[in-house]
Amino acid sequence: MKAGTVAAITAAIPAGDVRSAPPTLVARFGSATIKAGTRSLDLPIWGYDGESPGRPLFVNQGGIIDLSLSNQLLEDTSIHWHGIRTPNKMDGVPFVTQKAVPPGGHFQYRFACEDAGTYWYHPHANSAEQIGRGLFGPLIVWEEKPLPVDRELVWMVADWLIGKDDKVSHNYAQMHDNSHAGRFGNLITVNGQHRPAIDAQPGERIRLRIINAASARILSFDFPGLSGWWIALDGQPIQPRGLGGNPLYIPPGGRADLVLDVPIEAKSGAVFGVADATYRNQRNKLASFRISGKQVRSTALAAPKKMADNPHSQPILDGANLKTVTFEGGAMGGLRSAMLDDKQMPLRQLAGKGVVWATNGKIWSSLEEIARQDKLFNLDLGKTYVFRLQNKTAFPHPIHLHGHSFQVIAVNGKKKAVPEWRDTVLVFPDEKVDIAFVADNPGDWLMHCHVLGHVTAGMIAAVRVG
Ligand code: C2O
Ligand code: CU
Repeated sequence: MKAGTVAAITAAIPAGDVRSAPPTLVARFGSATIKAGTRSLDLPIWGYDGESPGRPLFVNQGGIIDLSLSNQLLEDTSIHWHGIRTPNKMDGVPFVTQKAVPPGGHFQYRFACEDAGTYWYHPHANSAEQIGRGLFGPLIVWEEKPLPVDRELVWMVADWLIGKDDKVSHNYAQMHDNSHAGRFGNLITVNGQHRPAIDAQPGERIRLRIINAASARILSFDFPGLSGWWIALDGQPIQPRGLGGNPLYIPPGGRADLVLDVPIEAKSGAVFGVADATYRNQRNKLASFRISGKQVRSTALAAPKKMADNPHSQPILDGANLKTVTFEGGAMGGLRSAMLDDKQMPLRQLAGKGVVWATNGKIWSSLEEIARQDKLFNLDLGKTYVFRLQNKTAFPHPIHLHGHSFQVIAVNGKKKAVPEWRDTVLVFPDEKVDIAFVADNPGDWLMHCHVLGHVTAGMIAAVRVG
């Protein structure tokens, strides 16, 4: 979050450029200076190499990530590569896929990046606090044939809760937050800066990769004055969809790529604001484009074409196995009791233990218990599964599956004409979302809500493949 960070992340990335991954990421304490209006906040953070976001890792599709995590925190940590398929051993979940990395310890992560797209990395230990304090960074895998654009930008969005003392509020296990919509901040940053202004040229075509690293806040972007198309969600190409249609929600954990065209006739000095408009009566300015420099072109470009799909196994829906996953609990949810590890308990008693969300009537108290006990489901290697995700709670939940991307095939029984791939799907209250995937990646894989406080409060389970 030093002044240089945004410049580094938003620097022009020549298409096809190969940059090898840096050899080490050090999880350690750091500090960030964030200018918010007239205030200048000096925040203690936890970050990779002491920065938040950590440096973006760029790799060509098919290339190798090979780096060592060095833990200089005072507690265990790990790195999970959110959204990209890796072998199970590289998934970065303590107890479930590896030993936690203790203070002073190291772990070597090495895997090939088969999937192109926009991903991110973050710890999977004490996640609400570790991610909440700033441990996250972008992982970008370039397509073999990248979309022709003038420039690529990566925007990693975070949401900090700043107290009256101008410090980050560090209560990450607040039952009120964890049993409601999660912990919301009051200071949104893009690449560690509050409302950064980014120079853009008239007629420029920009590929923007948005990563929502917030603990609980859902984002939806509004780009008044700019035209463009959504081209990928969760790293997976979609049929380009023009801006200005139904709001596109990017939940915590989710990503969205878009192509933005700066108007050819934009005047030097003009400013195009970018805002988040998810919540009623709340419009959050996120960033702005400031026009300068010379016109890049004089005629408008054609709409982008859909990029090539990643090499996912195509689900075969005919005769697929249907599994129902019901999420219950939280405030105003009407959950009476659930099984915590091996004991049935009334909600009041569960709440006393800090857990209030159940998956199919069950709560695993820790990653250790998830590793030790029976999994939510045992899936046969190579078979297609349909998970019917049912939200019987009063809050939206972004449900994330590790190790696989899935297709969203139906919402509330209404089939999608063109199913799209995701790794994190937002399920609204009373909604039923059907996802389909081939269980083709052997190992134990988490499935959990990406509202981090909900994870703390029990909304996390695992499936076994093979
Ligand atoms: Cu973004 Cu299980 O994680
Ligand atoms: Cu949730």
